[in-house]
Amino acid sequence: MRRLLSERARQVQPSLTLALTAQAQELRRQGKDILSFTAGEPDFDTPDFAKTGALEAIHAGYTKYTPTPGILPLREAISAKFERENGLRYAPDQIVVSCGAKHSLFGAFMAILDPGDEVIIPTPCWVSYPEQVRLMGATPVFVPADESTDFLPDYDALRRALTQRTKAIVLNTPCNPTGAVYSRQHLKAIASLALTHDLWIVADEIYEHLTYDGSTHESIGALSKEVLNRTITVNGVSKSFAMTGWRIGYLGAPPEVVRAVSCLQDQMTSNACTIAQHAALAALQNADSQWYDSVRMTFDRRRQRMVEGLNRIEGIRCGAPRGAFYVFANVQGLIGRRWQGRVLESSADVAAFLLEAAGVATVPGEGFHAPGYLRLSYATSEAVIQAGIERMAEAVSQLK
Ligand SMILES: Cc1ncc(COP(=O)(O)O)c(C=O)c1O
Repeated sequence: MRRLLSERARQVQPSLTLALTAQAQELRRQGKDILSFTAGEPDFDTPDFAKTGALEAIHAGYTKYTPTPGILPLREAISAKFERENGLRYAPDQIVVSCGAKHSLFGAFMAILDPGDEVIIPTPCWVSYPEQVRLMGATPVFVPADESTDFLPDYDALRRALTQRTKAIVLNTPCNPTGAVYSRQHLKAIASLALTHDLWIVADEIYEHLTYDGSTHESIGALSKEVLNRTITVNGVSKSFAMTGWRIGYLGAPPEVVRAVSCLQDQMTSNACTIAQHAALAALQNADSQWYDSVRMTFDRRRQRMVEGLNRIEGIRCGAPRGAFYVFANVQGLIGRRWQGRVLESSADVAAFLLEAAGVATVPGEGFHAPGYLRLSYATSEAVIQAGIERMAEAVSQLK
């Protein structure tokens, strides 16, 4: 019989993080007491200044289509933000606003990749990069890193991964899931690879404002004009402004890429939601260092509590992540132990055990191409973190 679904649709993997978040919600709906550390979103509300922008847009009648790449005032505000906060010079016509940074990344990959191309992805990596690359018919080439280098990829390993087909390298700093923050030295090494081998750098900077312990985020495109000409910088309002549901992301790129992304978007979604664009504009216009500092300080306290608590549980260990809002904990010490007669054989088993025995939802490292680890989001209250740690410690103490 003729296949009903395309090869592409049959091959694509669902997002593990979204699936586990949904599973935790479903268990709660069934009345189970679940503490969830799966979510990739801040737990606090979108700030009033952004909401006001949306309400004013509705009342002013801004409820129709806009140009595909976004309203000019928003692209101007993004252009100014790129220059002010990142040292990146992207004119407003070098910016495309999309329906979330995930959509921006999809547009970027679609604009630059052909079937057969290869894309270097340092791992552990965010779940969507490999799938998006595969959806283009291209091949993700993974370059693993571990705790010994703070999860930063080794330059020689990156170089060895290059082939004639390598078209791009993905750079996610601060990184989801590890919290790794690339230093200028690392950025320079990646930039020199890109320049020497004529690669695109797809720089996902969505967690830029969340850095700790004196680490600071730097944009690779700010290194030089040559590097900027090889860089597609992706960002959005989801994480910095607790606006995950508004679906506004954006990219800055050289003109030919921007034209391609905009043209592709013409045929896929047209503009991102007009009202949400006005909310994002208000967010960018009103954000000051006080806002960013208060968000960062809140996450920092939670981060410390999570790291301290996890390291007190025998069999689990983690370093203090320098960015984003996740802890990537090594649970290899729990693998091989028994619960109710069953052996925990993988980090996926450990996650399933914690869900069942402790009512604690986490995301196993398998989803990030890093088995042996669990990702725990600390974008939740300190009380939930404390309770979750206690429950996990109690459950782990029952392992044989
Ligand atoms: C590394 C990374 N990039 C991009 C995104 C997508 O963000 P958005 O909500 O803007 O699509 C996420 C969301 O989890 C992320 O973790």
